[in-house]
Amino acid sequence: MIKEIITKYETVIPEQVKVWEKVAHVNDFPLNGGLAFYYKGLQVAVFNFTRRNEWYATQNLCPHKKQMILSRGMIGSNGEEPKVACPFHKKTFSLKNGKSLNDGVCDLATYPVKIEANEVFIGFNE
Ligand code: FES
Repeated sequence: MIKEIITKYETVIPEQVKVWEKVAHVNDFPLNGGLAFYYKGLQVAVFNFTRRNEWYATQNLCPHKKQMILSRGMIGSNGEEPKVACPFHKKTFSLKNGKSLNDGVCDLATYPVKIEANEVFIGFNE
């Protein structure tokens, strides 16, 4: 069951986007924080990285202990690398490519984000 939940999250690269799903207005987001959204059985965390003027989207599921929590994680930078730290045990992940920055923890799926007319869209491949 857990394996099924994890494997349904797959990174979508911009070239694969078939659906741009509008999720919220930019003002709905906390500064330097995230919100979670549902899309076809997926929970996706979208991050408004105000300090860097960047947006990111990852699976909301932390692969460490399988908690739906990453949208409430602390975001920051590791050098040039934007990252999110899970609030439970502080495992960290790159927001750019979802790579785990801790040994022994699976990577995250990531999704493209675009802003149009102050609305936030996430890219999905189905
Ligand atoms: S559940 Fe996320 S770090 Fe443990």
